[in-house]
Amino acid sequence: MTDRSFPATGRPAADVLADLADKQAGDARWAEGRTFGLVFDGGDDIRAVADEAARLYLHESALNTAAFPSLGAIQSELCGWVAGLFHGPGAAGFLTSGGTESILLAVKAARERALAERGVTGPEIVLADSAHAAFHKGAHLFGLTVRSVPVTDHLTADVDAMAAEVGPDTALVVASAIDYPIGLVDPVPEIAALAASVGASCHVDACMGGFVLPFAEMEGRNAPAWDFRAEGVTTISADIHKLGYAPKGVSVLLHASRELRRHQTFVFDDWLGGLYATPNLQGTRAGLPMAAAWAVVSHLGTDGYRRLVRGTLDAADRIRDGVRAIDGLSLRGDPVHQILTFTSDEPDLDVFAVGDALAARGWHIDRQYPPDSLHLTVSNGNVPVVDEFLGDLAASVDEAHSAAPGGSGQYATID
Ligand SMILES: Cc1ncc(COP(=O)(O)O)c(C=O)c1O
Repeated sequence: MTDRSFPATGRPAADVLADLADKQAGDARWAEGRTFGLVFDGGDDIRAVADEAARLYLHESALNTAAFPSLGAIQSELCGWVAGLFHGPGAAGFLTSGGTESILLAVKAARERALAERGVTGPEIVLADSAHAAFHKGAHLFGLTVRSVPVTDHLTADVDAMAAEVGPDTALVVASAIDYPIGLVDPVPEIAALAASVGASCHVDACMGGFVLPFAEMEGRNAPAWDFRAEGVTTISADIHKLGYAPKGVSVLLHASRELRRHQTFVFDDWLGGLYATPNLQGTRAGLPMAAAWAVVSHLGTDGYRRLVRGTLDAADRIRDGVRAIDGLSLRGDPVHQILTFTSDEPDLDVFAVGDALAARGWHIDRQYPPDSLHLTVSNGNVPVVDEFLGDLAASVDEAHSAAPGGSGQYATID
């Protein structure tokens, strides 16, 4: 059992740091490309620039950008760059701590807008079953009702089914570009038009796709209209700490205009501490992830992201081909970007047992359901290990074929 007594005396830094390194020994081996998701590794030079930026900004606070104008500038430059990338000339936004915070704030902004513009007091969110769980969290926290509809046979959001749920109380209609469970881009223009038809907001969750789709389009890859070019899109979230290759703790939430952005900010001055205004869920927020993200994006630039996206999507294509070639596995849907999910199409093959066998070989793969399936978000760090992974996947399927059913399917522990 863990010793629960507070450290009585301090210890030398070297001891403490050695202990920390020991603690890491059992963690997922992301630097060797063994995680498909969780950590996104842009390579040695990108890690180095992030490390240096993080060192410079380790102690800075973004709570008050008047005291730290550099962080204000970092935020507005990053938001401006991403707005340009997403074809939103008037778009304005803020940095947040991650995809979930961006989504929560989009839900909050949509609720405030629906109340202010249409007097909606019982606000609703219309979304597909493939939309990220963070929307449900937002609905729970901010008191909205979720109207969720099944996906189509192609596993994208079903516009007709969503249309049947949209009405006068709709505050927000959601589209994913790219969705987490399957890796597809929803029909954003149709979904945004649906939202606009009742004066509701439309959020495009590009947490996964925001730093892939624009560069994939430049590379001539399939990219249906998904950003501010689609009329009616009011907010877009994009995570720089995913395929943007910045260290954890940073996402962008953009609104189509400054006017719409004001619904995000919380302003209060009826207490003893004076005016308190913050666009985030957090109060004090770290400057480190903002500065590291600014450094990574500046270091990579369009050409750097195109190179990383090219390598990543080629690797994902090779893994998809490899999965198709293995008897007993079948890909879910027809994703063409960095995400792929596969399930078992044989009754005696438990795909979670395949996951267990891969875990025993040092691979970290997410499990999801329904149906029981394994999920891979491919990124640059996985590029060098594609062949090794496919070899281990084939061996793991052989092993699982002879194992009893009952692999572990938990998504995450709640401890
Ligand atoms: C599509 C999508 N949206 C939102 C999120 C939530 O992001 P975060 O885990 O950074 O809060 C994720 C996370 O994987 C995601 O894939």
